[in-house]
Formats: sequence, C-alpha cells, structure tokens
Amino acid sequence: MSRLLKHTVRSCLALALAAAAFTAGAQDFPSHPITMVMPYAPGGPGDVVTRVMAGAMQKTLGQTIVVDNTAGASGTIGSAKVARSKADGYTLLMIHVSHATSLAMFKNLPYHPVDDFEPIGSATTGPMLILSRNEFPAKDLNEFVTYLKANPSKVSLAHAGVGSASHLCGLMLMSTLKVKLNEIPYKGTGPALNDLMGGQVDILCDQTSGTVPAVKGGKIKAYAAAGRARLPSLPEVPAISEAGVEGFDINISFGLYAPKGTPKPVLDQLSAALQKAVTDPDVRKRLDGMGISAVSADRARPEALRAHLKNEVDTLGGLLIKAGVQAN
Ligand code: MLT
Repeated sequence: MSRLLKHTVRSCLALALAAAAFTAGAQDFPSHPITMVMPYAPGGPGDVVTRVMAGAMQKTLGQTIVVDNTAGASGTIGSAKVARSKADGYTLLMIHVSHATSLAMFKNLPYHPVDDFEPIGSATTGPMLILSRNEFPAKDLNEFVTYLKANPSKVSLAHAGVGSASHLCGLMLMSTLKVKLNEIPYKGTGPALNDLMGGQVDILCDQTSGTVPAVKGGKIKAYAAAGRARLPSLPEVPAISEAGVEGFDINISFGLYAPKGTPKPVLDQLSAALQKAVTDPDVRKRLDGMGISAVSADRARPEALRAHLKNEVDTLGGLLIKAGVQAN
C-alpha cells in the first residue's frame, strides 16, 4: 500500500474514532457531576437563583450539579473560567446583565460574551429595590431624594462591580438625580448587604432575595422599588416613579450558558432540564416567595436567551459608555 494511501487510511480512522468518542460523550451525558459557575459571591441573588436552578435540574439530569462561586471583577473571572473550559456540558455559567455589559466595560476581556458561549436558556427575572442602612437620615423617598441631591459627596453607594446589576441601578439613580455618589465595589451584593446591615455603607440598589427579608426584619430600610410598580412583597414601599423620578425601570434576568462548541444534543438536554425547572410548581413558588419570577418554558430555550443577550449588549453597552463608565 502506498505511503499516501496509508496516511489517508490512518487519518480517516482517526477521524472516525474521534467522531465516535464525540458522539459517545454526548450520548451518555451526563455521566459525572456538572459544575455551574456563579461569578458572584455566595449569599447574593445570583447565588440564590443558581442554587435553586441547580437543585431542580440535577433531579432531571440524574447527576449532581455543584455550584462554584468564582467571583470578582464584575463576574468576568468566573465567566472566563467557563469560556476556557472543555465544551462538553460539564461546566456551565449562570449570569445576568453583566455578561452583556462586560463587552463595553472591559477592553481586555479574555473572552467574547456572545462568540465564546452557547446560550442554553433564561431562568429568572426580578425587580430591584433602593435601600439604605437603618440610620440613613431620610424618613421617606422624597427626603431620600432631597438628601442625595444636597449631600452626594457624603453618601456611599455599594455595588458588585462596574456593569453589575447593582451598579447599573446605582448609575440610573445617579443619572436621574444628577448626582455623583461614592461608589464602593464588592464581589457580590451578598457581602454588600452585610455591610449595609452593619451600617458600614449608606445605600445599595439590589434584587429582592436577600433584601426583602432584611427590610421586613427591620435590618435595613427600603425607599423605593426601582421601577414604575410597587413590589407585592413590600406594598408599603413606593415605586421611584411616585417621587417624580421617571425613566427608571430595571429588571434583572439570569440565564444559563455553556462554552462555545458544546455539542447540540448536550445543549438540548440541558435546556430541557432548565425548561422543566422553570415550570416546576415548587421552584416557581420558592422563587416567588423571594420576589423572583421563573421565566416561561419558551424563554428557557437557547434562541430566547440569544435574543435577550443581543438586546442587552445593544442597549446597555451604549448607556454605560455614554455615562462615561469604563473598567479598564
Ligand atoms: C449578586 O448576585 O451578587 C448580584 O447579582 C450582583 C449584581 O449586583 O449584579
């Protein structure tokens, strides 16, 4: 047999074996535990959503899903970890709006939030609240707005890093009130909430899972829902629009991603497990009790999350650059 023919046969054999291994890998997925990276600190709303979804999905997939809080740099450290992981479905990323804003915020991002990931589906949506430490010197929303306008340099604003949900909400507050507050970044709003309860920081704009219980427990104050509607969980707290602050309506959606190149049969299996999780009555009830809404099954699909991410990249990136925000 000629050397060329031998080489050709050998290459075809190698390709056939690789294809067989590839298919086998996808066919017996998942054959071992899955890691779901949450790129913000434990105790925050992202951590809560990730653990609820992981707990429900692992029942369907028949394999443990380990939550890995790889936090820091506005969620980009955890996202980079997933982007460079093996595209086999065993390393996933649960993230929200900061995936979209990272493109505008970081010039030297070690991945592309759209090109280097496969969307699996959206998981939840939820509103935000404008909160303060208990001793903050304003008895209601109007006094809060008046105080911020009169004393911006005296007020510290906690958030989870440039482009995070709490930062975006803080930016909207500063731009609508035309003030510049002292920003204090954290690795997540879990630790930020701890400092708010301890009085180490003045205000925080955050989602509801940890903050509503803290308000109801008298540990912090809520001045407003960060939108046009009051929250069912805190009906006595006004919407910020009631103080005449318009154009301020923020809702945070978490979505699940895999690294680019993850086999389609694996993505379909993961999306099916996510769809089952978001339609599970127990999951919906548990999230609802924390002021969070699981999405509908059709939003827990790849094409829905792809469209959602594109919309956030197109709209929020420009808003941040216009606000003069840049991380590096
Ligand atoms: C968190 O889970 O800590 C928050 O989602 C961070 C943020 O404010 O974006």
